[in-house]
Amino acid sequence: MYAISLGDDSAELRPLEVWHAAELLANMDRGREFIGRHIGLPDVVADLDGARAWIRSYADKRAADAGGLHGIWLDGKLVGGLLFRVWDTPSGVCEAGCWLEPAAAGRGLVTRGMRVLLEWAFEERGMHRVEWYASSANEGSLNVARRLGMTHEGVMRERYPHRGVRSDTELWAVLAPEWRAARARRPHNDH
Ligand SMILES: CC(C)(COP(=O)(O)OP(=O)(O)OC[C@H]1O[C@@H](n2cnc3c(N)ncnc32)[C@H](O)[C@@H]1OP(=O)(O)O)[C@@H](O)C(=O)NCCC(=O)NCCS
Repeated sequence: MYAISLGDDSAELRPLEVWHAAELLANMDRGREFIGRHIGLPDVVADLDGARAWIRSYADKRAADAGGLHGIWLDGKLVGGLLFRVWDTPSGVCEAGCWLEPAAAGRGLVTRGMRVLLEWAFEERGMHRVEWYASSANEGSLNVARRLGMTHEGVMRERYPHRGVRSDTELWAVLAPEWRAARARRPHNDH
């Protein structure tokens, strides 16, 4: 399968497809508690059928040019993923998201992978605005938004009910000209 290297370690970005359902379930089982602190993904990927159905929903989005799903593999193991939950070509607006199992956190995998996808979104697909929604309590995710050069645009209070508690959702976004300016400032080899 084709893959994009994310740097000098073995990290790779590849399309995440239905035949990876068992790998996704294993990834989720290794990270269920960590990943589920702020998002409901582990509850959706609860078993093999759930994993298949969720990946398939993204295959359908991809077919309709309405979203996308990519896995991050490290040393040949699926350790997380990146997605475009929303993709609207006519308006040039999309929404990105991510997850990692805990053992794969702290290595820049999501930041490196998202940079590849944002470059593609802005330069190949002509997107104008990439949005990022995260719980105000999700420091890891908010830090990713900061590292990607996004701007904090606001807080939607008590927007997201998760495991019986409503959390505030922060909206962050980066615009195409901001992305280009940030890219010009980045050292050449900074993945
Ligand atoms: C959100 C989440 C993916 C962030 O994971 P992360 O590993 O902190 O993010 P990255 O992969 O971008 O890695 C950044 C970390 O690696 C370090 N790093 C190492 N090499 C790096 C590199 N080349 N580039 C960037 N950062 C690098 C950074 O310093 C940072 O570490 P720090 O937080 O200790 O400062 C993770 O916390 C997660 O999966 N949470 C559960 C699911 C979730 O909430 N998803 C988001 C929904 S909105």
